[in-house]
Amino acid sequence: MFDAVARRYDVTNDVLSLGQDRRWRRRVVELLDPQPGEIVLDLAAGTGTSSEPFAKAGATVVPCDFSIGMLEVGKKARPSLPFTAGDGMLLPFGDGVFDAVTVSFGLRNIVDPIAGLAEMLRVTRPGGRIVVCEFSRPTWDPFAAVYTSYLLRALPSIAKRVSSNPESYVYLAESIQAWPDQKGLALRMVEAGWGKVDWHNLTGGIVALHHSVKPAA
Ligand SMILES: C[S@@+](CC[C@H](N)C(=O)[O-])C[C@H]1O[C@@H](n2cnc3c(N)ncnc32)[C@H](O)[C@@H]1O
Repeated sequence: MFDAVARRYDVTNDVLSLGQDRRWRRRVVELLDPQPGEIVLDLAAGTGTSSEPFAKAGATVVPCDFSIGMLEVGKKARPSLPFTAGDGMLLPFGDGVFDAVTVSFGLRNIVDPIAGLAEMLRVTRPGGRIVVCEFSRPTWDPFAAVYTSYLLRALPSIAKRVSSNPESYVYLAESIQAWPDQKGLALRMVEAGWGKVDWHNLTGGIVALHHSVKPAA
């Protein structure tokens, strides 16, 4: 499915999020706060849209994804990034090699998200950080109702006009609805072995940034 959306992935994102996704991505970098010399894993990086703000901030970022179609489009658009093919449930990296790990709009797509979070923990050094950027639940009920109707009705019909594979945006809407809320994701991160988890809501909770630290060994 991701191979099929790769070609028009970035432009579709901009249209469907009404340009908000650029702001969300900047907040991810600020929260992970990469330091000079640190190596950051961006899991489920797709075409590298989520990795690029890290590179622009001067960090060394490794974009990793299992869709060859996404990686090919990414490598053409961002040739300087070290794109790596790998499955988030069995990462091709040794233990503790990253100072920080992040995943944007990708954890929801990993078949077993807790296994993905546990793999991210394994490849992070003790004391290293994680930021998960994912769709979540609007916190204000009247706004939640408007948003749900956008997701289930407007988004699939807009996607028909701008995406190279509109059916996948029906899947997007359904998978957002089925995804746990802020507290639910925090509990799953703890279950995977991460330390105390906190989160920031963005755009009224449409997106949440969950962050934590790998406990010392
Ligand atoms: C919605 S895209 C997000 C891309 C990018 N992080 C962004 O923010 O634009 C989700 C990505 O998750 C990837 N993905 C899904 N399951 C995966 C897995 N098990 N291992 C690695 N990547 C996976 C897909 O190939 C796709 O590129």
